[in-house]
Amino acid sequence: MCGIVGYIGRRQAAPILLAGLKKLEYRGYDSAGVAVRGEGGIRVEKTEGRLARLVEKTEGGASLSGTVGIGHTRWATHGAPSEENAHPHLSDGERVTVVHNGILENFRELKQKLTAEGYVFHSETDSEVIADLIDYYLKKSGDPVTAICRFMQRARGSYALGVLFSDRPDEVFVARKDSPMILGVGKGEMFVASDVPALLGETRTVYYIDNLEAAVIRREGAVFYNIDGNVIEKQSVEVTMDASAAEKDGWEHFMIKEVHEQPRAVADTLSRYMKEGRADFSEAGIGEEEFSAERIVITACGSAYHVGVTLQYVIESLARVPVRVELASEMRYRDLVYGENCLVIAISQSGETADTLAALREAKAHGVRTVAIVNVQGSSVSREADRTIFTVAGPEIAVATTKAYSAQLAAGYLFALELARRKGTVSEEAYAGYIKELLSLPEKIKRVLERKEAIGSFAARHQTMRDVFMIGRGVDYSVCLEGSLKLKEISYVHTEAYAAGELKHGTISLIEEGTVVVGLLLQPRVREKTASNLEEVRSRGAHVVAMVFEGEKAEGAAEVWEIPKTEELFAASVAVVPLQLLAYYVSLQRGLDVDKPRNLAKSVTVE
Ligand code: F6R
Repeated sequence: MCGIVGYIGRRQAAPILLAGLKKLEYRGYDSAGVAVRGEGGIRVEKTEGRLARLVEKTEGGASLSGTVGIGHTRWATHGAPSEENAHPHLSDGERVTVVHNGILENFRELKQKLTAEGYVFHSETDSEVIADLIDYYLKKSGDPVTAICRFMQRARGSYALGVLFSDRPDEVFVARKDSPMILGVGKGEMFVASDVPALLGETRTVYYIDNLEAAVIRREGAVFYNIDGNVIEKQSVEVTMDASAAEKDGWEHFMIKEVHEQPRAVADTLSRYMKEGRADFSEAGIGEEEFSAERIVITACGSAYHVGVTLQYVIESLARVPVRVELASEMRYRDLVYGENCLVIAISQSGETADTLAALREAKAHGVRTVAIVNVQGSSVSREADRTIFTVAGPEIAVATTKAYSAQLAAGYLFALELARRKGTVSEEAYAGYIKELLSLPEKIKRVLERKEAIGSFAARHQTMRDVFMIGRGVDYSVCLEGSLKLKEISYVHTEAYAAGELKHGTISLIEEGTVVVGLLLQPRVREKTASNLEEVRSRGAHVVAMVFEGEKAEGAAEVWEIPKTEELFAASVAVVPLQLLAYYVSLQRGLDVDKPRNLAKSVTVE
């Protein structure tokens, strides 16, 4: 949510800031702005809407001269997405210029206090309050670092801040709590960004700013401070991520590129945590302590939560360990009973989702052991969890997750298998069979992708559909949750995922002539049951689409989508692909912005 960048060096800052913002636009895209310090002081340019408008307004940055600057791309929280509310924000008197990612929770109280001190506000944002509060403390202390530290002591909420002071022409200041921030090191120049891919075109040497830390950045390097204003030492890190992974590479959208990267993401994730044909989490430091757990709580948001729902079925079935799945936004505020010997698993692509991070902290505060399944190295969740399993999906840029979801499933299956092996709930023979099945998933996903035209044609015929229901039982139901979310978020079609047996308890009254109902028939034990539920909606006029394994039949369905036969517990990995493609093609047919759906942003760092 919101992307921030900064630059100080010898080159013109504005084009570098705009290029960085382009890479961060997935984090928010309802307005954008930059502040550049030139000969005549700090100049701010901002626009409502997409970054392209700012690029146009500033002639690609050429209209802003100067070698120091900060920039921002916004996902509105406080105040409408207007030019007025766009960042950077200036303090009253224009001594302090700020870009902010996060939410200042006590902004009302602080605004009142500052108003009483004579400050006048020009926007509806919480971020403008930050500029004024820092200005207030600057007046009191005369020192920018002290002013920022005082702000950190007073602020409640989350922030990654880039700050320019009008009387400090050769310095950029930053501070961070619960929103990501990375510094990049160049030769005689330094960069600031909300994530690593935004820096990869410039440098691979980075510093991760930790919670409640600040820094003063000059051309030759940075000095780091803790919240008390004491200097702290930090080690830089070399990033190995492939820069081209964050490019479209000729694909029309990031989403469809990432959908096609799933076979590789699954294969790479499996291979990272396998040795000699067996699951092996020793690289992640996961061993007896974690695998002796007697109960598991999985916590996550959105698609990562859906992975948790799938894993609940898989872990309970394979390892006979009770699992509950908790939405992180709920778990963080409820009085959960963890019980003896509990393990909490937090799942997150970005590793920065505010609710997931808070749920993880809540578990830790109860002394519960934690494991994270995370895609982004160096992210907050990965650093705060006791142990981390890294998915190897590579940077995911499209707002709708696809390959990270698939990689999370792969990591989770391996974890479940290793747990089952240690608990003695699967025989050696069955274990070997499951591993073989896992290793065949990338090929099966590829085969679904080869038949994508059939889904494209369905999307073309049904692009105006109004309501879609997706139904299934067990693992099939968990895939419906994900398929339904994909269709909602990028195609704006109203859909609901339902446990097949539950439809008749009320929701079936919504079925009308032509309502599309997608039924998943991939769980042999309950296949006939779901088939009967499909029959019930068909007889009420529904247009029934059945997803089955190759060679199987679905009597009465108007359309049948076949997918390669897979071990039923791992069916989600293959079955999700047609549903991702459905969402993609419907969005395309409707002429929507596939990669940046309205009202959304990737990496939800606000509650
Ligand atoms: C949906 C989607 C979101 C995320 C959710 C959690 O396509 O991407 O529902 O899954 O916001 O994000 P992470 O995994 O970064 O914690």
